[in-house]
This record gives sequence, C-alpha cells and structure tokens, in this order.
Amino acid sequence: MTNTVLSRTAPATCDIDLFSDQHLENPYPNYKLLRDAGPVVHLPELNVTALARYKAIRFALDNWRTFSSADGVSLNDLLNKAWTGTVIASDPPYHSALRAVLNERVSPRQIRKLTADIEARAELLVEELVERGSFDAMTDCAYRFVPPVILDLIGFPKEGSENLLQWAEQIFNVNGPDGNQKMQESVPGLVKMFEWLGKECTKDRVTPGGFAATIHEAAERGEIKPESVVPLMAGYSIPGTDTTIGLIGSALHLFANNPDQWKMVRENPDELLRPAVAEVLRMESPVQWFSRVLKQDYDADGVIVPEGSRILLLFGSGNRDERHFPDPDRFDVMRDPMDHLAFGGGIHGCPGQHLAQLQAISILKAFARRVERFEITGPAVRTLNNTTRAFFNLPVTVS
Ligand code: HEM
Repeated sequence: MTNTVLSRTAPATCDIDLFSDQHLENPYPNYKLLRDAGPVVHLPELNVTALARYKAIRFALDNWRTFSSADGVSLNDLLNKAWTGTVIASDPPYHSALRAVLNERVSPRQIRKLTADIEARAELLVEELVERGSFDAMTDCAYRFVPPVILDLIGFPKEGSENLLQWAEQIFNVNGPDGNQKMQESVPGLVKMFEWLGKECTKDRVTPGGFAATIHEAAERGEIKPESVVPLMAGYSIPGTDTTIGLIGSALHLFANNPDQWKMVRENPDELLRPAVAEVLRMESPVQWFSRVLKQDYDADGVIVPEGSRILLLFGSGNRDERHFPDPDRFDVMRDPMDHLAFGGGIHGCPGQHLAQLQAISILKAFARRVERFEITGPAVRTLNNTTRAFFNLPVTVS
C-alpha cells in the first residue's frame, strides 16, 4: 500500500521540515501553518500524514482500531522493531496484558502515597538552591530532582543506571525519521541501553518490590512473554525522566516570564498548582509527537487517507489549537486545560502522568513557599531533540 493521500477534495501537502534545528527551537509557527492547511496534511519528505488540529488528534487517540500502535509509534523501522513487545508499541489484547503489570503501581492511589517522600526531597533541594540565590534550573534543579525518584521506584542496579538519562535523550532522538542526523548518532545509545537492561537488570539484581521486579514476576507467572521484560523495563524508565525534567524546566521558564501568574499561584498554591502544571503541559508539551499506522482508510472531512499510512500525532500543535483553546499562546494558570494532549489519551494515555505531576507540583510548591520572583539571568539553551521539548540550561536568580 502506498502512503499517499487520495482525496475527494485537494489534499494539503506541505514541505515543512519538522526536524530542523530552527523548528525544534520554536515549532509553533510551523504548527499553525499545518493546522491552517487542513484537517490532515501530507508531508512528502517524511512520507507521513500529519494531524495538527486538536480534534483530529483526540479522535485518533480514541480510536486505536483505526490508528494502531502495533507497528510502532516512531518514524523508522529500527525503533519500531526495537519497541516490539512494549506497551507503547502494541494494540489490545496484548497491550492490555502489558499495561496491567504496573497499572496499580502507578495509579493515583499508589502515587499519592509517595507524596510525603517526594515533597521532602523537593524541600531539601529547593532550600539549598534558594540559599544559593542563583542556579541553573535544569542542571542544578530538574536534572537532580527527577532521575533519583524514578530510579528508586523502578529499582535498577546502581551501576550503569547513571546512563539512563543520556539514553533517554538518545532514544527520543532515535524516535525521529530514518537518515536524520540526530537519529543516526543516537542509535548506539539505544543498543547500549537494551544490552544493559538485558545483562544487568536481571531478576536477582533488581530491587525487590520495585517496578523492574514486578515486571520480572509477571513474566514468571506467564502474564507477559519473557521477551517483553526488557522492552517493558525500558518503557517505564525511559519515558519518565526527560519528559518530567522538561516539564519542570518549562514551568520555571514560563513563571519567570509571567511573574503575575507566579504571584497568583503563590497566593493560592492549594487551588492553583495543579491547573498551573496542566497549563505548562499544554503550552510546552514535553513529548511533541508520536505516530500511528492506519488499519483502515480514514476520512478526514472528505480527505481520504488510505490504510497503511503512517500518521503523525502532533500533540504540541493540538495543544496550541485556537479551534479548541481560545488565545492558545497565552499562559494562563486559571485556564485549567484538563483535556490537554500532553499525556496522549485513550488506551495509550500516559500511565506515568500522576507521578510526573506529583514531582512537578512538589518542586513548584517548595519554590512557592520561598520565592517571590524568578529572573532569567543568561541564555536559556534548549536541548534540540527529535521528540521532546526541554531546556538544557536555564540560569535563574530567585528573590
Ligand atoms: C511530563 C511527563 C510525561 C509526559 C509529557 C509523558 C507523555 C506521554 C505520552 C504523550 C504518551 C502517549 C504515547 C502514545 O500515545 O503513543 C505516554 C505514554 C507512556 N508513558 Fe508517559 N509521559 C510522562 C511521564 C511518564 C512517566 C513518569 C512514566 C513512567 C513512570 C511514563 C511512562 C509511560 C508509558 C509506559 C507509556 C506507554 C503507555 C501505553 O502505550 O499504554 N511517562 N507518555
């Protein structure tokens, strides 16, 4: 099956490069062009069809039978094959079995039990940073706060786990299109991570009671295939670090640039921290896209996209869609956009979202107790990644 758009009306086609450094730095002008071009837009360079509008993305997320994840959610065969056997690259019924392994562990009820511990970690770190007065919101704050929480929960052996963050960034780069430089340069990281997980994260070496041990036990009981253990361990460790780090960095950046919004949050943290984090996720979605493959023709307002086409779900664009969010480029902590797309949705909706939100809320809460104002004091440098959106450096002073 060829991957072209057969249309009753003229198909929109666009030659925007979604992986140029310029786009990764600021994707929003291109996203607007794509949204305005039509309900679906064919990108011939990538041979994919992009959904950039909120409504179409939500529809795709809610219809896994048509928009399947079983052929992977990246833009190249290498990663799509490597992810085989994990939740993110499967459809029901096996998806349900894989998802069931850790569903309870990451449920709101279980994550709530971690509140005191995560808040205590946030307090300790923020106290130190505020005492310093000036620090890098990424390297001194987000990068130090997030990985230890995830690593303690998953229970990997210490030796080697310090590479996890680097591997996470590389794997989100490998998610990109074949032949893309960032994608190719990051492949060795993917190989090393799978090797380490297979050799070092064996049943006898992971912490009893951790996520990794739970995954091994599910395989022993025959609930999942033995070959799913490594990809599932990767699936619950890799997507949780870079993304949450990106969220915290974007929050501090947005609050530094919108002191009136920070003032409102400080005055009413119990009410406003949760919607403020949702608004950060909407404004700067840490995961900008994943893809699907059509299992039947898709009729998008009269434009037929044929079965077999790879579809790009541009979460970062849907979250700025003026058709759904009025004045979408305005950061407004009162907006409470609970239906944002930053965690995807439907059966693949992010299972780690409660953990990620707890971490972001805890760190902001600790700052809210102590800091009236953030000021950016040097260049805010982005990590230009094929999939994720985050800063690498964000120098700030607090007062
Ligand atoms: C701000 C932080 C996070 C963001 C923005 C995020 C974003 C996403 C998105 C957009 C998806 C949907 C994938 C799709 O539809 O194909 C997803 C799925 C997933 N996320 Fe997250 N995530 C975050 C944190 C986490 C954490 C902390 C964990 C682990 C504890 C995690 C584990 C997963 C897993 C396992 C999936 C696959 C679920 C499935 O396919 O059923 N994520 N995430």
